[in-house]
Parts: sequence; C-alpha cells; structure tokens
Amino acid sequence: MLTRGELQQAVDSAGLVTELRSAMAGYQEGGPGSRVRSEPSRTVTAMVLAPGLAPGIPAYTVKVHAKNLGRRPALTGVICLHDLHSGDLLAVLDSGWLTAVRTAAGAALGTLVLARPEASTVGVIGAGEQGRAQLRALASVRRLSVVHVHDPDPGAARAVAESIEGVGVLRDVPVHVHPTARAVAGESEIVLMATWSRTPLLGRADVRSGTHITSLGADEPGKAELNDDLLAASLVVTDDEQLYGDVLAKVDTTLPRLLRYGGRAAQTQGRSPCTAPSAYPCRTSSPPGTPTNELAPARSAPTSTWSAESSHSTIVNRRVPRRSQSPPDA
Ligand SMILES: NC(=O)c1ccc[n+]([C@@H]2O[C@H](COP(=O)([O-])OP(=O)(O)OC[C@H]3O[C@@H](n4cnc5c(N)ncnc54)[C@H](O)[C@@H]3O)[C@@H](O)[C@H]2O)c1
Repeated sequence: MLTRGELQQAVDSAGLVTELRSAMAGYQEGGPGSRVRSEPSRTVTAMVLAPGLAPGIPAYTVKVHAKNLGRRPALTGVICLHDLHSGDLLAVLDSGWLTAVRTAAGAALGTLVLARPEASTVGVIGAGEQGRAQLRALASVRRLSVVHVHDPDPGAARAVAESIEGVGVLRDVPVHVHPTARAVAGESEIVLMATWSRTPLLGRADVRSGTHITSLGADEPGKAELNDDLLAASLVVTDDEQLYGDVLAKVDTTLPRLLRYGGRAAQTQGRSPCTAPSAYPCRTSSPPGTPTNELAPARSAPTSTWSAESSHSTIVNRRVPRRSQSPPDA
C-alpha cells in the first residue's frame, strides 16, 4: 500500500503530461474504460473507474473512490494496480493525490494543444487540491507570466501562492486574488476551473475571445461551471464524449463539436489545432476523468513491480528521485 506521501516522493509528475499523451492517443482503439457512480448518502458520491489500460503497459487499474465536498481532502479512496495477464494485485495506491496529478496532467495536455501559443496569463477559479495541481502541471509545459485566483475561501486563494513557492518556474510569477470568477476570467488568457459549483460561474460576456478554459468541476450530472451561451460559442473538447455527453445532455447544441483529447493530441503532435482562425471564439476542454488517465501515474509509482515477481508480498516501494522541474519551453 502506497500512501499519499510515498506517492508524492515516487511519482515523476513532471513527466506525466508526456506519458498521458501516448496513453490517451492509445485509447482511440481500446476506449477509455468506464465508470459507475452512485450516491450512498446525501454527502457522498461513490465511484468505480475501470479498467485503466494503455498500450505497452502490462497492467490495468481499478479505482474505488469517494467524493465528499465537505471534507479535505475531498476525494479519497484507492487505486488497485493489477497484472494485465494474471490479474495479480501489484499494488494498492492512495487515490486522492494521484487523481489530482493525473487530472492536472490531462488538463495541461489539453491546454498545450488547444490554447493560443502566446497565452501566458492564467486564472484559477476554485483553488483547492485540483486547482493548485492544475496550475503546477500547466507551469511544467507552458511559461506563465501572472496568476489570477478566485475562491470563496480566502485561505484557499492564499494557499495558491504558498503552493507555488517551491515550484522553480513559478517563483517570480505574481499571484493576484480576485473577489469573483468573472474578475479572474476578464484578466486571463487561460482559465483553470475546479469548483463544486452547480450553477454556471462564467458566461460568454465574461470571457475574452481566444480564451482557453479548462472546466474540471462539471464532471458529474448536475454540476456546472460554464453557461450555455459560452459553451455554444466554444470549441468543446473532452477526453471522453460519452462521459461528458451525459454531463452536458441539456446543452445538446455543443455535442457535435466535442473532440477527444487523445486523437487530437496525437494527430497534432503538440501543435495547436486552434492556431488557424476558428469559428469558435473560445476553446473549452472538459475532461471528466477516465480510468486510462490513472494508469500512467499508477504504474510509475512502484517501479520495482515491473521487474520483481508479480505478487503484492514482493513489492518494495523503491523511491524514484523526483526530477527537478526544468523551465518550460512552450
Ligand atoms: N474531471 C476530473 O477528472 C476531476 C478530477 C478530480 C476532481 N474533479 C472535480 O474538481 C472539483 C474540485 O475538486 P478538489 O479535489 O480540488 O476539491 P477541493 O474541495 O479541494 O477544492 C475545491 C475548491 O473550489 C472552491 N469552490 C467551491 N465552489 C466554488 C465556486 N462557486 N466558485 C469558486 N470556487 C469554489 C472551494 O472553496 C475549494 O477551495 C470537484 O468538483 C471535483 O469533482 C474533477
């Protein structure tokens, strides 16, 4: 069993964007896995996501996960890593932090592919675990000039500044706290959203043309971060049409425009498909999170399992030194 702290030491989060790019391109054939969700009580959503599969990795993941917006951390559970051929259990990993980094890496990949290459001003709306992880992941692939933050919890907004102190590439980047989501969007070329909102926070009039938005919070039916008029004016990209289609069922005008990250990212090999003038003034990526996204970070944790006997009794948590973060070149 690897704990949150052990995973933070072991997983090379800086390399995850690259790993995810190939895993997501691969699921064009195999599909992204499926998820089952239920609400066992008024405060908890229970989820199972499986199987997480990727080409060339002889393992799969099964995540058993709970969401409770009143708790910190809000997401808790485990990811089981199994041998692909024998089914043997290779490791059990705490799921909270791993979910944050895999989601943030997917969001960074989406931004890299979709945002205008020169975009450098970033807004964070919802500055919890996921908002902070998104900012760090984005900074590993894109040079950022200023960070604007809104969160109704002033402590969360301040935590953004603290959380990036140790991130070399963000050291001198100013952080401004704003009283509303709209104020953040008005200042930002890239907007990262990770709230629990059930009412839209931004509409078309709040966002400048050419803005890229990542909306992570709308990952379940009933949750919403973007107004219909903004979605209708956007090129909407998701990592799974079916999952996001369910979330967006009411906004049926956008569905024909849904693209998949994986295919796009693979086809364009890092170049933005949106550099040409677009019929859509905004680009929105809304990754609801797929099992496939789990496998890349999960397999990078217990590295010894890939050479040792496939039995959980033989697993040794051989720590992999974290790479120092290199300056982004994008
Ligand atoms: N798409 C995915 O794959 C994925 C993965 C993980 C989390 N999520 C979602 O991301 C969201 C955040 O998760 P987290 O783990 O960071 O939670 P968290 O509780 O750590 O952080 C959420 C933050 O959002 C703030 N917030 C809540 N409502 C807000 C509003 N209306 N406006 C601005 N800020 C608001 C809260 O004060 C808090 O600081 C949740 O909705 C979660 O389900 C999605």
